[in-house]
Amino acid sequence: MDRIRISGGRPLNGEIDIVGAKNAALPLMAASLLTPESLTLKNLPSVADIHAMANLLSELGVQTEHDAESRTVVMHGGNVTETTAPYDIVRKMRASVLVLGPLLARFGKARVSLPGGCAIGTRPVDLHLKALEQMGAEIELAGGYIDAKVNGRLKGTHILFPSVTVGGTENILMAATLADGETVIANAAREPEVTDLARCLQAMGAEISGIGSDTLHVVGKPQLHAAVHGIVPDRIETGTYAVAAAITGGDVLLRGAQMGSNEAVFGHMMRAGVDVTETAEGIRIARQNGRIHGVDVMTEPYPGFPTDMQAQFMALLTLAEGASMITESIFENRFMHVPELMRMGADINVHGASAIVRGVPKLSGAPVMATDLRASVSLVLAGLAAEGVTDVNRVYHLDRGYEKIEQKLAACGAEIERVPE
Ligand code: EPZ
Repeated sequence: MDRIRISGGRPLNGEIDIVGAKNAALPLMAASLLTPESLTLKNLPSVADIHAMANLLSELGVQTEHDAESRTVVMHGGNVTETTAPYDIVRKMRASVLVLGPLLARFGKARVSLPGGCAIGTRPVDLHLKALEQMGAEIELAGGYIDAKVNGRLKGTHILFPSVTVGGTENILMAATLADGETVIANAAREPEVTDLARCLQAMGAEISGIGSDTLHVVGKPQLHAAVHGIVPDRIETGTYAVAAAITGGDVLLRGAQMGSNEAVFGHMMRAGVDVTETAEGIRIARQNGRIHGVDVMTEPYPGFPTDMQAQFMALLTLAEGASMITESIFENRFMHVPELMRMGADINVHGASAIVRGVPKLSGAPVMATDLRASVSLVLAGLAAEGVTDVNRVYHLDRGYEKIEQKLAACGAEIERVPE
């Protein structure tokens, strides 16, 4: 298995292009199932999860033409023949469950393998299923599959999510666009990826109001039509490279990045003593004066601090002056990077959902590995700042969500390479 090898201690200087958001692209691709006409997405990131979703859609009968150079994919759902998302695909990518709402809404049936737990938590999909049942779906769980069907169209209704779920909001939002009548989704996720999906659905002819708020109103239509949509820049890729600049004491322009969707992360960075400047081309991140200061972080649904940036920010805070408390409120098992960061010399104590990080003056390189995407990238970030060589194993986690990570970092002066096994 490939490894990423980093010789740390070099400040990053230069520019990094931010691509379209993986977590926006996945539901947007699933939305192609809602119409017999074409859906064109621009600014598509080239990462393994996107290829997995393209593969699932083509198994279902969606014709996809992907032009990697222009980052454009045209998806045509006119000849969908299959409504089953098989175990072999779903087990590799949980976001496959996002085909459930669109398949059920358009074809009246869907069979989707139940995603299991994963490295960051149990991650059930009960809230997706309860909401679809409220819309008139009959759902059975058998043989590890969700078997859903509905007689005629789904029915618009009032759905109140008891807790915020990004994927649940996306599944129900897509299903509601083809339902009979009005659906109200209360306590909806407000993540920029949900907003991006809602805008694309509008372009496909859906009637949605309340976009960006926690209450979405959707008036269902008998059919949606063709649309072209540009995917929002990836706020987590943005935050990750912002940490790379800050942790190495560098100066990097994140080209195409947006301030608006990243306020919580940039706010914490500024409080820690990092310079964050909005420019016409993107966001510039610089830290040239001494160590950063410890800050407390609590992950929360948007607009709070994103759980998908918790591990990266922890890597940064291992080198702060003073202590920081990091509380993970979204997933129950998202501190898998802690023991690996400690092997690099970090001083971290975990108590339940909180971790106390006492800053140390330096980290030292070590062989490390992690069990999920964001934990893995936090080790790359720590390796960029550490003295000596860090080998990050299990690179396939990184490839799920970061496009050309080693090239992007190397172009800014990092000494980093992929070592094939
Ligand atoms: C999305 O996952 C993202 N994935 C995750 O990013 C992200 O960490 C998460 O939202 C939170 O922001 C994609 O967009 C593809 P949730 P999702 O439903 O939709 C519980 C990454 O690294 N829950 O908002 O699966 C759940 O267990 C990934 O890119 C239920 O209990 O997250 C969790 O504790 C990792 N029942 C919480 O809610 C349900 O039916 C939030 O999960 C659904 C969720």
